[in-house]
Amino acid sequence: MYKLGVLISGRGSNFHSILKNIQSGYIKNAEIAVVISNNKNAKGLDIALKNGIDSVFIDSDNLSREEYDKLLIDKLREFDVDIVILAGFMRILSRRFIKEFKNRIINIHPALLPSFRGLHAQRQALEKGVKFTGATVHFVTDELDDGPIIAQSVVPVLSDDTEDSLSERILKTEHKIYPLSVKLITEDKIILKGDKIISIGDDLNDDFYAVNPKEL
Ligand code: GRF
Repeated sequence: MYKLGVLISGRGSNFHSILKNIQSGYIKNAEIAVVISNNKNAKGLDIALKNGIDSVFIDSDNLSREEYDKLLIDKLREFDVDIVILAGFMRILSRRFIKEFKNRIINIHPALLPSFRGLHAQRQALEKGVKFTGATVHFVTDELDDGPIIAQSVVPVLSDDTEDSLSERILKTEHKIYPLSVKLITEDKIILKGDKIISIGDDLNDDFYAVNPKEL
């Protein structure tokens, strides 16, 4: 059984989608050991509370990045966490943290990486006028929004899209590819060699990822 540590800062819908997929048995080899937030008002903390999952607020006031990340590491170690899931965690992690959990931190980004890294990825896609964007689940490395790609969803950009409508369409696919990625990792189906994924489970097929907006 893998123990997951989920880091959030807000709404927590990706955390919730992973939790629901554990509860339904779709993800069989994992449990959420702890949810940690840097924001005490994060809605995701309420979801943890309602579901009887340990949750912790770690305040970043007056702490350097290294000091804060040391607290994070200690808390994750206390809960014996094997895999760190970033789910809308709005802080950049230190090298030390990334080294501590090397190849065991994953993140979801609301764009088809390597396009539109950083904040407001959906707005960046609209401004660029791309016809398709999507979401990416990837291992975390020292580079922001980089690292070996585990899964992607492709989402069309419609002519009347706003940032909200596009974000909502992408989010629905995030709730599919994040649980799928956690399932693959915790079934040991992903093999990393250096910075590349060299093997991935059979469950990953192209049809799953090209999302028809009419189906959403
Ligand atoms: C998602 O859009 C995710 O891609 C990005 O932050 C947002 C988090 O949303 N990294 P939620 O808190 O999981 O609802």
